[in-house]
Amino acid sequence: MRILFKNITSLVRVACKNEKFKVGPSMKDVCEIEDGALIFSDKIEWVGKTQELEQKLQNQALNIDEVYDLNGKTVIPGFVDSHTHFVFAGERSNEFARRIAGATYQEIASEGGGILETVRATRKASEEELFEMALKRILKAIEYGTIALEIKSGYGLELETELKMLRVIQRLKEALSINIVSTFLGAHDFPPEYKNNRSKYIDLICEEMIPEVAKQGLATYCDCFIDKGYYTIDEGRRIFEKALEYGLKIRCHADELADVGAAKLAAEIGAISADHLLFVSDESLQAMKNSNTIATLLPGTSYFIKMPYAPAKKIYELNIPIAISTDFNPGSCFTQNMQIILSFATLNLGLTCEQALVASTLNSAAAIEMSEKVGSLEIGKDATFLVLDCKSYIDLFYNFGINHIESVWIRGSKFSSNK
Ligand code: NIG
Ligand code: FE
Repeated sequence: MRILFKNITSLVRVACKNEKFKVGPSMKDVCEIEDGALIFSDKIEWVGKTQELEQKLQNQALNIDEVYDLNGKTVIPGFVDSHTHFVFAGERSNEFARRIAGATYQEIASEGGGILETVRATRKASEEELFEMALKRILKAIEYGTIALEIKSGYGLELETELKMLRVIQRLKEALSINIVSTFLGAHDFPPEYKNNRSKYIDLICEEMIPEVAKQGLATYCDCFIDKGYYTIDEGRRIFEKALEYGLKIRCHADELADVGAAKLAAEIGAISADHLLFVSDESLQAMKNSNTIATLLPGTSYFIKMPYAPAKKIYELNIPIAISTDFNPGSCFTQNMQIILSFATLNLGLTCEQALVASTLNSAAAIEMSEKVGSLEIGKDATFLVLDCKSYIDLFYNFGINHIESVWIRGSKFSSNK
């Protein structure tokens, strides 16, 4: 099946030099083609201007099976959500109401709520229930333009439930055509049964959980919440070193609640991504600058728990690659809508529209090591993109809070949830 899109009012390729990610001033150029055209099967076969089409088709006899006229529309690569917690049971709307009335995220957590509330519900839920709930949430994310995802475990904090969550992620990968990668986050918090014996729980993570997760091939990455009130630098280092030994790659919840030097550790240990960074120090940023670690910023979390925003401008000026994602989870950011995250990234983090677009597509794909397949519209990459019902990508930001997606295409097929 070969399809032609023509007369696309704005075709935004995001990148056109096969870069794995973009940093600094190169984020300014989103390789837009006005009145563009696209020929694709499961991969992108040709991209150019509509007026060049005739020549192209004359030079090369191509069977085109379907033609779409996309006058008035915009085509962009799909959004990559590289930091999420889609698998969990229960919900925390009363905590939300309490926070709105003045309680803080940390106060609620210190009373045994927060992550631990979700741990209790997730331990009780069956694999089937977890799968059905996560599937429903992800279908909503796709409706809003998400075409690739990272999903973490971390609401089990015991071997059995962590494995259950990771099996659910595995099933989601099999059930959906979007790309999904999984992360083991046994170090999301300390379970109540080890509250007074932290090192015993870390022994469990290192001696039992990581080896078992690796043996069963259930995760590509290992994450750890290194922050005030959660894991210390030394605890995080121990977990990461063990994970590396077992072939897992590293990503890190870093300096979300306070600067504890987590981003520096992430950079030094060769993490693929250091995430949050609300309180990241200059010293840690220098370490990130000298590494290949991507800065994944999650402005929805700052918004939702009323915290400061990460120093995006500083990070940008240091030429550290910036990705943006939702952090979708029931406590600190309960939205799977990447379009609203793009709005926060511009109006609250201070990125330009172009920077936010690059950060949510190509760079976020790089943050899950998938930018060779998705993240930009270039020949040979997957034919995975969004048709927006607007004439320019600027409208995504300008007319905020509504869903601009007309259709989502995954490897050359229009996505439909009943498939
Ligand atoms: O990314 N920071 C740690 N974990 C989540 C919060 C999870 C929760 O509150 O359930 C986050 O913000
Ligand atoms: Fe998170």
